[in-house]
Amino acid sequence: MMEELLVIPERLARIKEVLSRRQPDLRLFLERVVNYHNVSAILRTADAVGVLHVHYFHEGELPINDAITRGAHRWLILHREKEVASGLRLLKEAGFQLVGTGLFPETVDFREVDYTKPTVVIVGHELEGISETVRQEADLIVKIPMYGMVQSLNVSVATGVILYEAERQRRQKGLYDAPRLSPEEMEAIIKEWAYTRVIQEKARGRLRR
Ligand SMILES: C[S@@+](CC[C@H](N)C(=O)[O-])C[C@H]1O[C@@H](n2cnc3c(N)ncnc32)[C@H](O)[C@@H]1O
Repeated sequence: MMEELLVIPERLARIKEVLSRRQPDLRLFLERVVNYHNVSAILRTADAVGVLHVHYFHEGELPINDAITRGAHRWLILHREKEVASGLRLLKEAGFQLVGTGLFPETVDFREVDYTKPTVVIVGHELEGISETVRQEADLIVKIPMYGMVQSLNVSVATGVILYEAERQRRQKGLYDAPRLSPEEMEAIIKEWAYTRVIQEKARGRLRR
């Protein structure tokens, strides 16, 4: 790389290590998740599981709280979708299976799905759940069994449960053992995370090397 080193070598090594385990073909789609606690907790879990790309449909900016994500959202690529249907269709055309979530009659147990395939997990609004559009576009809808008095889980908890099932399956298949990103993709992201963004943050006076 030609650029001046703008992060300490240990941080650069950490970024490379994290990227070497990222799963570019395990994605999240947040459909109008509005509460910042929920969004932030979801992004923190996404980072932990090795998700790289998070798509979202939301009026305005995604509400993120730094104290809750602990900065995890900085190590994800967030895609704002203008529309749910077109956003999902593009992902389907790119070869992703679309896995909706919720408690509908057509659902299957979340553990019956093969998450080692290119997958987008779609989670919905805190009260209304996923929309009719998602139900139509999704290849299948999964549910997490519920045995209590309350009908559903908190959306960030449900996301965590499903993502960790995906992690279990992918780990078993060795998908964390070797980088899933090409050297060129890795290089481009490192450039963004360790150089371009550092210059921007430096300009804003919030540099963290
Ligand atoms: C609180 S729930 C919404 C409840 C809404 N009444 C419904 O029917 O979906 C918010 C989101 O959390 C996820 N969720 C919560 N509990 C779930 C469960 N048991 N199985 C699958 N997804 C669940 C889904 O993504 C859902 O859209």
